[in-house]
Amino acid sequence: MFTVKPIANALGAELSGVDLCTDLTPEVYAEIRRLLVERQVIFFRDQDISPAQHKALAESFGPLQTHPAYDTVEGFPEITILESTAENPSKIEAWHTDMTFRQQPPLGAVLRSKICPPVGGDTLWASMTAAYDGLSEPMQTLLQTLTAEHDFSFGFKESLAEPGGRERLAQAVADNPPVVHPVIRTHPESGKKVIFVNCLFTTRILELSKKESEALLGFLYEHVTTPEYSCRFNWEENCIAIWDNRSTQHKPINDYFPAHRRLERITIDGDKPY
Ligand SMILES: [Fe+2]
Repeated sequence: MFTVKPIANALGAELSGVDLCTDLTPEVYAEIRRLLVERQVIFFRDQDISPAQHKALAESFGPLQTHPAYDTVEGFPEITILESTAENPSKIEAWHTDMTFRQQPPLGAVLRSKICPPVGGDTLWASMTAAYDGLSEPMQTLLQTLTAEHDFSFGFKESLAEPGGRERLAQAVADNPPVVHPVIRTHPESGKKVIFVNCLFTTRILELSKKESEALLGFLYEHVTTPEYSCRFNWEENCIAIWDNRSTQHKPINDYFPAHRRLERITIDGDKPY
């Protein structure tokens, strides 16, 4: 149907030979979803889609979410603007899974590039199924007995500390009290085991002492960034990335200041991790 070129062993593939402005048949949607679960993050280039087409593509995966902390495209409250400028540079630089502070974190996201820096601004993704498979059996067994707390306020602590930040985000903080997820979740479509803690939103492992929790989380945060579990994407204008947020983490590389970058993201509803 279209050409699939894996870009790393653990995850990632570039898809070509499809025009997302015109070719969105049920068969194409189904094949994109199958490849998303299989490759965990997929990429398209030269796709100048409209906001409505962006929304239609995202909706093919399920209902859409809004984000409590970002601006949105006019007329499209589902499309959040991720913009970095010299005056207002992007702040999130840590590896993370999106919005694990929700009871039902997103299934995934459809991210498109509008403005790219001349150099830099790549994004890394890492496979949390590969990271799980890379652990020894005794460690896998231990982790499967544990749960961890995830907290919006922890992830957005820098924004909250800004002048006026606590007032601006008061509703978001009130709407997003800490939640608990298993440290290892099972992917609902592939059945694979996934490491589901991240350094942006996870605060502690509930069953362990503070010292043990910090040591084990510290090990996992380092382990999940092993280069062999990752892939890297170099953005140009009108690229689209779709990632499975249930099986990956990602990290934006902030090496392009003071250049301007603007990406637009739609987030797809997910289910409760188990
Ligand atoms: Fe993110």
